[in-house]
Amino acid sequence: MRIMETDVLVIGSGGAGLRAAIEAHRAGAKTLILARTILGKAHTTMAEGGYNAALGNRDPTDSIESHFQDTVVEGAYLNDQRLVRILVEEAPERIYDLEAYGAVFDRTAEGRIAQRPFGGQSHPRTCYVGDETGHEMIMALTEEVRRRGLQHSDEVLVTRLLADPTGCVGAFGVEMRTGGYLAVRAKATVLALGGAGQVYRVTSNPDEATGDGYALAYEIGAELMDMEQVQFHPTGMVHPESAKGILVTEAVRGEGGQLKNARGERFMERYSPKQMELSPRDVVARSIYTEIQEGRGTPRGAVYLDISHKDAGLVEAKLPRMVKQFRTFANLDITKEAMEVAPTAHHFMGGVKIRPEDNRSTTVGRLFLAGENEAGVHGGNRLGGNALAETQVFGARAGRSAALAAATPIMPALDEAALSREEARLDSMFRKGERPQAIKRDLRELMWAKVGIVRNEADLIRALEGIQSLLGRSERAGVSGGKLYNPEWYDAICLRSMLLVSEAIVRSALLRQESRGAHFRSDHPRRDDVHWFVNVNVMKGKEGRMEATTTPIQATELRPEGAGK
Ligand code: FUM
Repeated sequence: MRIMETDVLVIGSGGAGLRAAIEAHRAGAKTLILARTILGKAHTTMAEGGYNAALGNRDPTDSIESHFQDTVVEGAYLNDQRLVRILVEEAPERIYDLEAYGAVFDRTAEGRIAQRPFGGQSHPRTCYVGDETGHEMIMALTEEVRRRGLQHSDEVLVTRLLADPTGCVGAFGVEMRTGGYLAVRAKATVLALGGAGQVYRVTSNPDEATGDGYALAYEIGAELMDMEQVQFHPTGMVHPESAKGILVTEAVRGEGGQLKNARGERFMERYSPKQMELSPRDVVARSIYTEIQEGRGTPRGAVYLDISHKDAGLVEAKLPRMVKQFRTFANLDITKEAMEVAPTAHHFMGGVKIRPEDNRSTTVGRLFLAGENEAGVHGGNRLGGNALAETQVFGARAGRSAALAAATPIMPALDEAALSREEARLDSMFRKGERPQAIKRDLRELMWAKVGIVRNEADLIRALEGIQSLLGRSERAGVSGGKLYNPEWYDAICLRSMLLVSEAIVRSALLRQESRGAHFRSDHPRRDDVHWFVNVNVMKGKEGRMEATTTPIQATELRPEGAGK
């Protein structure tokens, strides 16, 4: 087993992790990044359409206040408004940091950062680099990490956070390149491992999005919040099968793309006639779902997204990735033909509950959260473009807070017995038994069928029973082959996170007996601000059982009428 030591350990190398590492280093802390794959290869690169900042470059009437209001209202008031305030106020400064690191955003004729309209927003405030915004950000951030000479270990699958009674003291994982184990001692740890889209059969997320961040934190006592709030992006690819779920950016609609059903009707007129295609994501996703369910979808179970009425040169300039993606995968020219699209699991608004002042877990010392792993910013429905902003604003804050917490000469000790137990647990997976891939496939099917865009009590109960049975199967699963680059072993390891996250989603969804944001219950189809103006929390209870409770929402500035009365 290799042992490493650092002041600040950053787990995850997407937009949030890299920004946290840069800031921790800037604050003087010795910083180590553990990347699940290679540095910078993360879901951030797939966030295409943009970064929200109220710069007012396209519409001078935009303001920080409008950004705040849009985020809270479209978040169905579920947000922690203290976090929203931080997001909207700091997003502009953090985009200039990205420019300083080398990111080149598209410009207006006057040379300012260009902005486009995105769903659910009162002003065009989404800054972009064509439809490759996340990619450009990651290129700039990795450059900055390299310029600073930051230490990173790539292809490390973290399997456990190490803890003592005072909090998190590091992490343990598998080094894929050697098949050996790695333990890191750290004075402070930032967790930024991204979401859990892989618990659903159809997702825009990469293979690594197995929810490890939530599970690792939960296992050492962190509290999860609002896990029922899963965002289904309205537009993912539907064919070929190998491309199912891949993101079709909201920028297509931002640039004038129209949604039509198989009859050629612009169906958003019936659901949201004012905002149409640029309605909030939960509304567009449910509208598409309804069209398909009620038989007005295409034979492939999709609707059309059409931008062929726009000038082909403009489409090629503003949406180069979409042009290439559809040409490569579907042999389709989007400047001439409509795309077929359907919802795809995209983002988790819930996550680890944090203290707004420093991004620290509310229940575990020295553990800081950034990006999709933290809860509270987006409430019940994230605005497109707010995630990239979140990675930078809260990445920087988590890095700074972690560096501050690490400013002590005392390096925590590691519990040798705990390391040996983890080693033995991972070794024991090599045995005869059911293949983990089969269990993973069944879980993803179950979650898609029973815990998707529209939910009800009976389905959720069946899902919970299904998860219990899959848990039993996972305990009897077996891995074949060796320890070097063995995807079956990684599946077996991540299955634990996937099952835990799925259980958290289902328990939270069962508890919230109303519809709010992305969580829609057909048996409770209305938002109920009187009884359900609450966050749902999930924690490890007595005897290790998962428990769900509620607490009042932190509505420090805006409240819906009658809330919590
Ligand atoms: O549609 C998109 O480009 C996705 C952006 C986001 O999720 O923020």
